[in-house]
Amino acid sequence: MGKRIVLAYSGGLDTSVAVKWLAVEMGYDVVAMAVDVGQGGDFEVIRERALAAGAIGVEVIDAKDEFANDYVLPALFANALYEDRYPLVSSLSRPVIADHLVKTAKKYDAVSVAHGCTGKGNDQVRFEVGVRALDPDLDIVAPVRVWGFSRADSIEYAKRYSIPILASKEKPYSIDQNLWGRAIECGEMEDPWAAPPNDVYEMTVIKNYEPQELVIEFVQGVPVALDGEQKSAANIIAILNDRLGSYGFGRIDMVENRRVGIKSREVYEAPGALGLILAHSDLETITLERDLAHEKARLASRFCELTYDGLWFSPLREALSEFMNYTQRYVTGEVRLGLEPNRAFVKGRRSPVSLYDYELATYEKEDAFRHSDAEGFVRLWGLGVETWARTQKRSK
Ligand code: ARG
Repeated sequence: MGKRIVLAYSGGLDTSVAVKWLAVEMGYDVVAMAVDVGQGGDFEVIRERALAAGAIGVEVIDAKDEFANDYVLPALFANALYEDRYPLVSSLSRPVIADHLVKTAKKYDAVSVAHGCTGKGNDQVRFEVGVRALDPDLDIVAPVRVWGFSRADSIEYAKRYSIPILASKEKPYSIDQNLWGRAIECGEMEDPWAAPPNDVYEMTVIKNYEPQELVIEFVQGVPVALDGEQKSAANIIAILNDRLGSYGFGRIDMVENRRVGIKSREVYEAPGALGLILAHSDLETITLERDLAHEKARLASRFCELTYDGLWFSPLREALSEFMNYTQRYVTGEVRLGLEPNRAFVKGRRSPVSLYDYELATYEKEDAFRHSDAEGFVRLWGLGVETWARTQKRSK
């Protein structure tokens, strides 16, 4: 029996060629592992393709709920948007795949794991740092970084070994998709001035013009129901992708800073993610005390960097998540969204534990705010700058 390797397998050209390449050039028995994180596609076809490419075994893992509950929800708690815009779609799926690479390696007694990432991206960082954090003794192989094939070379290699690949002429885009969204790179979009071609969009094509309302219910930060119907988090995300996406909501076009030092033009579709972050962060406006809300937002940007940079399995990310979990204790209530072509917006919010106090806020006769307290408060608040104004500022 030869030495075994577990390959994170997508069914695409590169990982299909990698199955054969790891066997032929590196002498491994290759186990292909496909993880369902909600990217869609037929996993039976993927299984057959891996076997046809020469895998000695195929593992198909349904990780949709695990991905939603253990990776996406912590990001939602933090309202996580990398560089204020990107909901960390691919950054969140790599650690769950890394975790299953390690588990599958144990199951098959493999000495190595492999992935199909190039040397220019973030995903190699996330896979490798993730695997090292979970099992520092596993050897990691990155065929695409080693073989130096162009796309044409890969197709040639596939032909030579009769590896089945998608026959149709694929679009020149690099696409990564899961429950939390879809990332589209390459092609014309490499010019940051050029508008993304219309055919890159799949999740956010307008099909609905009739305005609609939608109520999302949260319990301790977790989305639990849509329009009064209880559902799992994974289900809610999938439904929101459809419903918000059908209004064309959820597109992002940005130039982001990769961990490896490259600025790259990225186009994303994330209707469910952006809709949930919009609603969740809105509910926090009435359920979080001011200092907690402000500090949480500061720490969230650190959470985003760590997750983006492949440090999901790290003591700081775990500690920040403990903090975020704690903040969610009273993030319970409902948010009412309005849907219209190209947009989703908050129309209202309510909570049984709301900190919004009508009698404090109102300008009507119910007003219970102690106006006389304000005078002394404001005077003391400004006392420092008043003193400065009377002495140093004047002498300038
Ligand atoms: N730029 C995004 C990130 O680093 C998306 C990466 C997409 N990955 C891909 N293989 N197309 O998280």
